[in-house]
Amino acid sequence: MQNKKIVEPKKMNGCSNAIDVGTFFDKEWELYNKVITLNYMAHREVLEILRKFFHSVSSHAFSVLELGCGDASLLSSALKGTKIETYCGVDLSHYALAIAEDNMRLYDSNKRFIEGDLLEEVGNFRAEFDVIVAGYSFHHLIRDEKVQFFEKCSAALKSQGVLVIYDEVCNPGENRNGFIKRFSRICTQEWSRLTHEEISLICDHVEKNDYPETFEFYKQLAQDNGLRDPQMLFHDKHNLYGVFRFTN
Ligand SMILES: C[S@@+](CC[C@H](N)C(=O)[O-])C[C@H]1O[C@@H](n2cnc3c(N)ncnc32)[C@H](O)[C@@H]1O
Repeated sequence: MQNKKIVEPKKMNGCSNAIDVGTFFDKEWELYNKVITLNYMAHREVLEILRKFFHSVSSHAFSVLELGCGDASLLSSALKGTKIETYCGVDLSHYALAIAEDNMRLYDSNKRFIEGDLLEEVGNFRAEFDVIVAGYSFHHLIRDEKVQFFEKCSAALKSQGVLVIYDEVCNPGENRNGFIKRFSRICTQEWSRLTHEEISLICDHVEKNDYPETFEFYKQLAQDNGLRDPQMLFHDKHNLYGVFRFTN
């Protein structure tokens, strides 16, 4: 690995629930990995969308910043066969980042893995990246932090750069409580390969730490804070998850 930077300990002035979220993923990464393998959060469909997206931008060498990269398993697959030149992954979870380094080892591009808060770290870059990806990490930010997130992503992206978010999304007119009830119902009824204890751990994490909003709201915030041309590239059959892109 090149240019490794480790920021420690986890800082307190980034996202408000960073400590809880980081602790959860450090402890429960294997459970999350089970959810990915069983495709309960549509990772397979998201992978196809991202593969197509990266192949469409990859006529030239490009740089990617992944915010909340986890183990980078999705991007390490989506980037195969592209001209990725620089990859930077940011995550709170020391455990997941160690796997991310391993998953990204097949790329001889310039790589950095930063253990830190995504909202703080993204603020350290100026017009540096062609693409920023945030997968299932954006929903951990409360409203004010989402505003800062869009502002800082706009500053960190090159002109014409693209922000891709795949994440939880509320139905039109639905609020956070409505989403949490809907998520818990679907998870309890349909995630049948998990134990009751695993489902209750996940529902508890969502109830305490997730702040999804509608796509309309994401669109407005992005437009108000420097990003244009919002598009929804995918949503799953329950409209729990979507893939969104915005251009700088
Ligand atoms: C649900 S996992 C998603 C991992 C991966 N992006 C994926 O698509 O599977 C959320 C990840 O975001 C990270 N995360 C959440 N809030 C964060 C923050 N404020 N700063 C950095 N990482 C964060 C967690 O540690 C976790 O690895």
